[in-house]
Amino acid sequence: MTDLRIGVIGYGLRGGLAAHAHQPGHGAAVVALCDPSPAAAGRFRATFGPDVTIDTDLELFLERDLDAVFVLSPDYLHHAHARALLGRDIAVYLEKPMAITTADCDDLLALARQRSGRLYVGHNMRHMPFVREMKRLIDAGAIGTPKTAWCRHFVSTGGDYYFSDWHAERRYTTSLLLQKGAHDIDVLHWLMGSYTRSTTAVGELMVYGDATDRASAADPPTPWHERETLLDRWPPASQTGLHPVIDVEDVSMMLMTLQNGTFASYQQCHFTPDYWRSYTVIGDAGRIENVGNGGDGTAVHLFDCRTDRWAPDGATVYPIEPTAGGHGGADPAIVAEFLRYVRDGGPTETSPVAARYAVAAGYAATESLRSGGGMVAVPPLPGGPAGWFDGPAARPEATL
Ligand SMILES: NC(=O)c1ccc[n+]([C@@H]2O[C@H](COP(=O)([O-])OP(=O)(O)OC[C@H]3O[C@@H](n4cnc5c(N)ncnc54)[C@H](O)[C@@H]3O)[C@@H](O)[C@H]2O)c1
Repeated sequence: MTDLRIGVIGYGLRGGLAAHAHQPGHGAAVVALCDPSPAAAGRFRATFGPDVTIDTDLELFLERDLDAVFVLSPDYLHHAHARALLGRDIAVYLEKPMAITTADCDDLLALARQRSGRLYVGHNMRHMPFVREMKRLIDAGAIGTPKTAWCRHFVSTGGDYYFSDWHAERRYTTSLLLQKGAHDIDVLHWLMGSYTRSTTAVGELMVYGDATDRASAADPPTPWHERETLLDRWPPASQTGLHPVIDVEDVSMMLMTLQNGTFASYQQCHFTPDYWRSYTVIGDAGRIENVGNGGDGTAVHLFDCRTDRWAPDGATVYPIEPTAGGHGGADPAIVAEFLRYVRDGGPTETSPVAARYAVAAGYAATESLRSGGGMVAVPPLPGGPAGWFDGPAARPEATL
């Protein structure tokens, strides 16, 4: 088997994902980078060896005879980068969110369809063991017919991860509700077997807007990932070296009506002391919820007999074994699926149509929260639900 030649666009914090694809002699080798940052180039060479090519110019990079490329650049560049790759018939692993507007997602889907391109969006949460267990239980009928799903997302790392760089600006992300919420909206859609039809949301910049210690070119802060500890960066408003412009919300809450008539909700807060996601799905014959997100003690609890109090003893507990690899084992699993898809095609757990609906719901919710909280319709995919792709690399849209 000849190795697939793999390239990477953007080798920042998420760059570690590409290492899972580097299996020289066993099917795939990472051979090329496009990134304007000299530091990124140095780290890339140190990881993948002296023979890799490094380009700062996208056009030169596109000439490197690549089979597939990981697009790990900031969100606002996803559309342009994926477009350029699809235009050259290079398979694309596109990090989430697919793009920062619904229109850009639709443009990518149209191009992928037109060129029968392989477009894969990195919704790695579909490969997280606790999410998969919830999906398995729902599909097995453990809670009856699912009727409503709620997700609370506590982001203790907000100031460091999201208010220290480009993430903090609307022009680069649209909103953190879209940027970070795309993961959770996709999971809610997946668990409920449907996409958002309309949404209403509220949100505000409640805490980080008050932080007075901002970064500047003359006085650059220590990057948060180079600090010895982040635990002393508390409370959030006391944090130093934040991005000069912060105009995204740090708390947002959205309600969704799904196309199948069910309801979902998502709450995101960036100034909590703890970091995790709490999902519950309630059906007409039971409820499940996760406790933990993959570390020790993570479990999915099923409540399927009636009680009149909080009753952990009344739950059936499905323990989730900790799995090696980034994001609770999801990163190696999603890269393996992508490489298989590039080589052989066939169904995948992730779906670019679903990725588009995650962005579209987050985009509509952002419109709602910035215009008084009214209900905003999510535009259906142009061409209808099956309208994207019916060629040889057809996607597993049957379940959605
Ligand atoms: N799925 C996940 O769990 C997950 C986790 C983290 C980040 N992400 C996604 O990964 C992407 C990257 O996030 P990050 O935290 O690594 O960002 P980052 O800012 O740390 O890194 C971005 C990299 O892109 C490079 N870059 C900037 N402009 C470029 C250009 N024009 N051409 C090529 N490269 C360019 C930068 O130099 C940098 O090396 C984002 O879209 C983010 O949403 C996904």
